[in-house]
Amino acid sequence: MTAADEGRPVTAADEGTKVTPAGQGRPAAAAADPGAFRRAAGRFPTGIVVVCTSLLGTGHAMTVSAFTSVSLDPLLVLFCAEKIARFHDAVLDAGIWSVSVLDEESEKTARWLATRGRPLDGQLDLIAHHPGPVTGSPILDAALASLECRTTAVHDGGDHTIVVGEVVGVSEPQDGGPLVYFGGGYRRLATG
Ligand SMILES: Cc1cc2nc3c(=O)[nH]c(=O)nc-3n(C[C@H](O)[C@H](O)[C@H](O)COP(=O)(O)O)c2cc1C
Repeated sequence: MTAADEGRPVTAADEGTKVTPAGQGRPAAAAADPGAFRRAAGRFPTGIVVVCTSLLGTGHAMTVSAFTSVSLDPLLVLFCAEKIARFHDAVLDAGIWSVSVLDEESEKTARWLATRGRPLDGQLDLIAHHPGPVTGSPILDAALASLECRTTAVHDGGDHTIVVGEVVGVSEPQDGGPLVYFGGGYRRLATG
């Protein structure tokens, strides 16, 4: 007999979801401190993108996991940029940026473009890339997919800035597995 047969709302138990009775689960963490927050937030797997911009003819780039799509109408995405990152001011000044979704072979790229204090001049020299057709912002050739964006809103987010952009260009996606970040390490999706 299903919930529908019985005329009652469907519950998590009907769907086969594991339900722990209230009070019998694992103890909640005590105080919210930065270390606990990092460990908890790190259990949320993300893809990895490289956000690039072009300012006065120079390409800038940074590894980012805090990226998400936001809206279909209009087409909006966002990413969070740490205020002390050198990329932060460059992308806000430029007002245009591109997003390259990293494939599973691109761990070296992700590590390099996350290295604090790396030389800005020529930081993309060893990574195959091309200018985005709409914005001119660099796009990585190996990207699984790429977007070109124009900043439409900038919100304060504590030690980060939330940068919202309208999508003005989209590439055809390429086949391949994504690079995943989970628990402080790079991972790949298991196949099969
Ligand atoms: C996996 C991973 C994800 C990251 N995601 C972000 C992010 O979403 N936003 C951000 O501002 N920095 C992020 N960072 C850190 C920046 O990549 C890094 O601080 C920046 O490249 C340092 O460059 P700078 O020396 O020019 O400031 C991430 C780093 C790693 C390793």
